[in-house]
Amino acid sequence: MTDLSFVHVYQPAAIANAPTLLLLHGTGGNEHDLLSLAPLIAPGAAVLSPRGKVLERGMPRFFRRLAEGVFDIDDLKLRTGELADFVAAAAAHYKFDARTVTAVGFSNGANIAASVLLLRPTTLAGAILFRAMVPLEPEIRPSLDGTHVFVSGGRRDPIVPADNTERLATLLREAGADVALAWQDAGHELTNADIEQARTWFARGR
Ligand code: MLT
Repeated sequence: MTDLSFVHVYQPAAIANAPTLLLLHGTGGNEHDLLSLAPLIAPGAAVLSPRGKVLERGMPRFFRRLAEGVFDIDDLKLRTGELADFVAAAAAHYKFDARTVTAVGFSNGANIAASVLLLRPTTLAGAILFRAMVPLEPEIRPSLDGTHVFVSGGRRDPIVPADNTERLATLLREAGADVALAWQDAGHELTNADIEQARTWFARGR
């Protein structure tokens, strides 16, 4: 199926056989927001960066929410499927190896990445989740054996409670993922320490 229906940026790998990063912005961002992070985290990697299709008062997001931290689960499931299908279609179209895709998501982007892990577990080889929470409780426990996840929370994050991020790490571990959980001396915003630790984690081969 060809479904390149997300507005997106694709940048081919600068190094042969380098993996692909799937960049997923936060609420109000767009496909350009995280582009500068990619070479810092994975030099030479290909980049696929879609723009969320949902608009909340003009701000792009990856799925609808009813209130801060209260998600529209039906929409989330639908959008998760759309994003997973988009990744597969983009791999076929741009000819990158779909088995090497690591998501890099911030906030709303991290939450849809977590949802892809939980609902479409074969889509991603791994994920870097900045300021993520539990997007939904999956009805069927996914098998995430061999999937590597770096979760980075802000100790003073006013939007994402620490115990919610911890619950996400536990949920992913229970599904078999190899999860590294890091805490930053930060709020909801992304810091240099987040990027540095994500880079080290990625370079170690996850
Ligand atoms: C956001 O502002 O994006 C929230 O913190 C996370 C979400 O709604 O997915």
